[in-house]
Amino acid sequence: MLKKILIVLLAALVVIQFIHPKPNKSTGDQPNYIGKIFPVPEDVKSILAKACNDCHSNNTRYPWYSNIQPMDWWMTGHINKGKRGMNLDEFANRNLRFQYNKMGDVVEQLKEGDMPLNSYTWIHKNAILSQAEKNTLMNWANSIKDTMKARYPMDSLVKKKQ
Ligand code: HEC
Repeated sequence: MLKKILIVLLAALVVIQFIHPKPNKSTGDQPNYIGKIFPVPEDVKSILAKACNDCHSNNTRYPWYSNIQPMDWWMTGHINKGKRGMNLDEFANRNLRFQYNKMGDVVEQLKEGDMPLNSYTWIHKNAILSQAEKNTLMNWANSIKDTMKARYPMDSLVKKKQ
């Protein structure tokens, strides 16, 4: 009995190796990249690239083990959820409230130390951000909020309290 179960499990493990979701890869210009509407300085860009873009952009750098299932499913789950929360390549086409609030969320996530996900930094050690790097990102997100506050009336950025 146990042997049969093991064989079935093993067969399933072999079969799923051939099933992969569509990779999060979209080459070429990203017309709705956040950098099209707000400045993204080089230092910010490189921190986002090493610590955030894999789950918050239209391009993931896949490690070799993404070829192994169920790793790919697990990673794809994070990527899809991460992009649903905030996609830096689909930012310019979102409404002002979303943009303003998301930059607030970026600050929150960094303050709390919730991003990048722990399961990501276990493997991507260089995505463990120093306090200086966190400050760089938080200052950047806050400066976007300030730019928006100067550009638009407040009630187009936050919901009016009833
Ligand atoms: C390994 C994937 C991964 C990485 C890397 C990652 N995130 Fe996330 N991020 C997620 C997931 C998954 C969610 C959705 C969490 C949820 O729904 O509970 C999320 C959500 C968010 C949100 C939205 C939170 C909200 O309240 O809507 C922000 C902002 C965010 N991440 C910022 C960042 C920043 C900044 C970095 C880099 C410093 C980063 N993330 C790195 C996976 C990731």
